[in-house]
Order: sequence, then structure tokens, then C-alpha cells
Amino acid sequence: MNKNRLEHLAIIMDGNGRWAKQRSLKRTSGHEKGAETIRDITIYCANHQTIQTLTLYAFSTENWKRPKYEVAFLMKLLERYVRGELPTYQRENIRFMAIGDISKFSDSLRKSIADTEEKTRTNTKLTQILALNYGGRNEVVRAVQKVIDAHQEISEESIGEALDTPYENIDLLIRTSGEQRLSNYLLWQSSYSELAFTQTLWPDFSAMELDTIIHDFELRDRRYGGI
Ligand code: IPE
Ligand code: IPE
Ligand code: MG
Repeated sequence: MNKNRLEHLAIIMDGNGRWAKQRSLKRTSGHEKGAETIRDITIYCANHQTIQTLTLYAFSTENWKRPKYEVAFLMKLLERYVRGELPTYQRENIRFMAIGDISKFSDSLRKSIADTEEKTRTNTKLTQILALNYGGRNEVVRAVQKVIDAHQEISEESIGEALDTPYENIDLLIRTSGEQRLSNYLLWQSSYSELAFTQTLWPDFSAMELDTIIHDFELRDRRYGGI
């Protein structure tokens, strides 16, 4: 049997708060540690033979419900991350992109995102996509609106092309922290994704564990409705 080829990996990075709580730390420390995990996992993916795109859920359209200070902290952390990672992106030949409705973010965060996107635009080893103020339903609604505005016919192709994500299908979707739900992530793109759940909290997630999950994925029988 041929191994499945993993080109597009998506991850719901969950469990930062519980990681911190277990250590009697503030939830924000969990987010700090989680940002370090992003770097390790991204570098692993950049060096992986077949992975071309890594799409990470960093802030959902529902996460605004969190306490103000936590939302403010996440915004600051995001800005620091997007600016601070630039040398890593350049060294590792990684392209950075954001998806989601970032119109609600501050000018300076949007500028950091645009700058890093622009500076890494021609990097080719991996595309790292951060989903920011992202919701799957919100994305589909915005896509349908684009199709209508362009007077195009409504079809799977036209909607697919109007989505934020440049690469439509997710091969493997992983969620950490033991929760087994999509939480409004990539609803359209995950229609035939393989799913993997691990109990590991995101700050503890490692390239070694990812490697094991990928080996399991490669041996799965993907039938797409056929036999
Ligand atoms: C994921 O960790 C990070 C974000 C949603 C921003 P959580 O903050 O959801 O951590 P838990 O689920 O409360 O442990
Ligand atoms: C999903 O995690 C969003 C991100 C990882 C950014 P949540 O922790 O917000 O999801 P729920 O509330 O457990 O469904
Ligand atoms: Mg959570």
C-alpha cells in the first residue's frame, strides 16, 4: 500500500490555560509557552519531506468572549510573535500568512502581519498560516459574499477559491488537550481530513509526538466515499 502523502497539516493548538493551571501559573504563561511550541513544530514541518502548509488556529471568532486582559495579552503576544519570528522565517525559508477577519485588530498588529507577510512572500520551504479572528462559518459567509459581489455562479469551485485559505484541503487535522471538537475551525476544508486527537496540552506538544501522529496518518485507509 502507498503511504498517504501529508501536504497540508492543520492544528488546533489547545490547552495553554490548563497547562498553566497545572503549574499554578497564570493562563498567560501557558500562552507564552505555547508560542515556543509553535516555533518547534513549524521548524519540524519546514524540514518534513512532504508538508507544504501548516495552518494553526491561534485566535477564534469566539475567543473575544474571554476576559479583557487575556484577549489584550493574546493580541500583544501575537504582535510580538509575528514580528519576532521574522529572522526564523527567513533563516528557515518559511512563508508567513494570516487568515481570518483581521479587520478587528489594531492598526499596529495589522501592520506587523502585513510586513511579515510581505517580507516572507517568496519563501518556499513551508507556508505557515496563522488563523486569527478566524471562524469557519465566518469564512464561508465572506467567501459567498465575494462570489456574489463578483457576479459569479455559486459552485464548490467558486466558493473554494474565494475562501481565505489558499490550499483547500486539509490532509490531517490535529487537536491537542483531549477535546474532540472542531470549534469552528476550517469547516469547509476539513470535509475529508483525517482527524487526530491527543491528550497532550499544547505547550507540551513536541515534534517527536507529531512525528508519531504523522506515521499513523500515513498508514490510514483514505477512501473518500469509494471502496
Ligand atoms: C489555546 O489554549 C489557545 C487559545 C485558544 C488562544 P486555551 O487558552 O484554550 O487553553 P485551555 O483550553 O483553557 O486549557
Ligand atoms: C479553539 O480553542 C480556538 C483556538 C485554539 C485558537 P478554544 O479553547 O477556544 O475552544 P473551545 O472553547 O474549547 O471549544
Ligand atoms: Mg481551550
